[in-house]
Amino acid sequence: MATGRRGAKADRSEDRIGRNDQPPDGCTITPVPDDPEIEVPYRRSVPLISTEGSTMTLLLTARTPAPTLPKHTSAAASARGATKIYGRGDTEVVALDHVDVDFATGQLTAIMGPSGSGKSTLMHCMAGLDRLTAGSVTIGDLDISSASEKQLTILRRDRLGFVFQAFNLVPTLTAIENITLPMDLAGTRPDRAWVESVIDTVGLSHRLKHRPSELSGGQQQRVAVARALASRPQIIFADEPTGNLDSTAGAEILAFMRHAVRDLGQTIVMVTHDPVAASYADRVVFLTDGRIVDELTDPTPDAVLDQMRRLTN
Ligand SMILES: Nc1ncnc2c1ncn2[C@@H]1O[C@H](COP(=O)(O)OP(=O)(O)OP(=O)(O)O)[C@@H](O)[C@H]1O
Ligand SMILES: [Mg+2]
Repeated sequence: MATGRRGAKADRSEDRIGRNDQPPDGCTITPVPDDPEIEVPYRRSVPLISTEGSTMTLLLTARTPAPTLPKHTSAAASARGATKIYGRGDTEVVALDHVDVDFATGQLTAIMGPSGSGKSTLMHCMAGLDRLTAGSVTIGDLDISSASEKQLTILRRDRLGFVFQAFNLVPTLTAIENITLPMDLAGTRPDRAWVESVIDTVGLSHRLKHRPSELSGGQQQRVAVARALASRPQIIFADEPTGNLDSTAGAEILAFMRHAVRDLGQTIVMVTHDPVAASYADRVVFLTDGRIVDELTDPTPDAVLDQMRRLTN
């Protein structure tokens, strides 16, 4: 991943200065150390006036904008032959039927398909919340199919973020306590500026001290989305993250998720029924009867809608 970022940096204009570059004569480079993930947030000093051997410099205070990161193709999570069977005999349901799929690092992938096609089951099995009947799932370099419960707990705590269909907020905690819970559990310090911008985007600033029972369904959903984004986990699995929101609130959250993916390298896998929501993704994967039957890259709402019509007819 780091290689890809360096490559992206080299392609940018000569105005951009890298961490290891030598400054030109008369220039100094000031690192802005608040984001070790991004290699370009440097300020550049340029010569303004030069007299009698002394150089005055003008520090350009505007932070160099983050680059548009390249689309990574390495997989953040993969499934091979993933099969999940619920029940036995007459009540047996094949929820996943030999699914092979890769979710690329630094991409927003949408999963679509009819109700009951296995979307949530796939998310739960990918995220180590449920075990496959057969096949394997890897997150990064960890094969979670053979991981112990303890390894899974640590993986979920330190590397994954979730938005569930049933939000899973802790009822006794306030909204802000729910949002920072994963970091509190992991013992990591929140990046306050980032958390504030997440809260602002999801429109929760005025409800932070309320408990889930005092929030509407849409507000609870926003808390769940903010909680997943706040700690910038390695991967976020989001099951219909905008399902209870009106189109304006949904669009704001989707735009923010896309920003986190494009500008900060976040990886997100999102289930949705909404072709407009899916069009925010880099790629859409279509499930039917527990099988991946198609996919689209750089989708438009119309292309997604056409595909869904084809699959349901
Ligand atoms: N715990 C369970 N026990 C038995 N069957 C289950 C269980 N969970 C899911 N199923 C069945 O597995 C299939 C896939 O369910 P899943 O929840 O993954 O669908 P989905 O695509 O997420 O649907 P929706 O869009 O309605 O959320 C369905 O037929 C469902 O009834
Ligand atoms: Mg579901």
